[in-house]
Amino acid sequence: MNNRRNFLLSTITFLPILGSVLQSQPTGKKSKEKAYVISTWDSGKEVNEAAFRLLDRGAKAIDAAEEAGIYIENQINCCVGLGGNPDREGKVTLDACIMDHKFQCGSVSFLERIKHPVSVARKVMEKTPHVMLVGKGAQKFALEEGFTLEEEKLSSDAEESYKNWLIESKYKPVINIENQVPDKLPSGKFNHDTMGTLCLDHEGDLAGMCTTSGMAFKMHGRVGDSPIIGSGLYVDGKTGAATGSGQGEEVIRVCGTFMIVEYLKQGRSPEQACRLVIKRIIDINPDKAKSFQVGFIAMTKKGEFGAYSIHPGFSYAVTLQNGTTEVRESDSFFKTS
Ligand code: GLY
Repeated sequence: MNNRRNFLLSTITFLPILGSVLQSQPTGKKSKEKAYVISTWDSGKEVNEAAFRLLDRGAKAIDAAEEAGIYIENQINCCVGLGGNPDREGKVTLDACIMDHKFQCGSVSFLERIKHPVSVARKVMEKTPHVMLVGKGAQKFALEEGFTLEEEKLSSDAEESYKNWLIESKYKPVINIENQVPDKLPSGKFNHDTMGTLCLDHEGDLAGMCTTSGMAFKMHGRVGDSPIIGSGLYVDGKTGAATGSGQGEEVIRVCGTFMIVEYLKQGRSPEQACRLVIKRIIDINPDKAKSFQVGFIAMTKKGEFGAYSIHPGFSYAVTLQNGTTEVRESDSFFKTS
């Protein structure tokens, strides 16, 4: 009895504090909407439609996820894949990963001159005892698997950007620059470019992929979050999945997508889960977080979805279970950039 009384008293004493803690928790709108596909950024719309065409015909989520990656890697003017921006030595190096509902996953990073890193990642998953291959080893494996060695040549947009960057040779991240279509981009201001996609199939299985040319003008050899399982992408077939875009180093520090899925397991909504991880990133260094963007998207096994970012301007595409695809802007921690 005493214990219960003490508990009640201490609860009453801390009610105001509890109230403020609850207020600072994410509101995470509970939505009845359900999705089959969700992708990062505006360009995710076409990516979703490519993935959904397969899902609609009964394909598995893993096939739709790979198709999403192939679609965007084919867009030579889209900055993901070989059309993306080079590192500071003028080389385009690609990172990608893929994961299914059974924790099977594959990844490649620092891969040069191969058009579809997402497909090489899938081969790593299916044909090797490993999860991750990098650099020359990844390229050798790709060639053995029948991929073609592409010409070493920058896309015209990337070449122009690189020439402009060389004038000052400084790296300065530009928030949301990856959301702009190349012909609207101020020359020399590409930042980094990442497409992450999550798919849910008619069997109720989840899969995802993440592909990028990484941060523009990065140091040669730099690898970001995108090919790292648990950072750029994570899928837990029993619960949900998450992927994201933005400053990879900051995502790696908090094992971003793994943490989001952990929050989903604790019963948080996808938006709440994304928000909690964004908050973790900001809390490491709130001042520094003013100058970079990270945005996450997440989806549960039931098709509930959500997104959250540090700054405004992070958009995502969602294909709802009624078959329509929309681009939406996520809520963000900072309300103005
Ligand atoms: N998020 C992609 C990268 O930082 O490389």
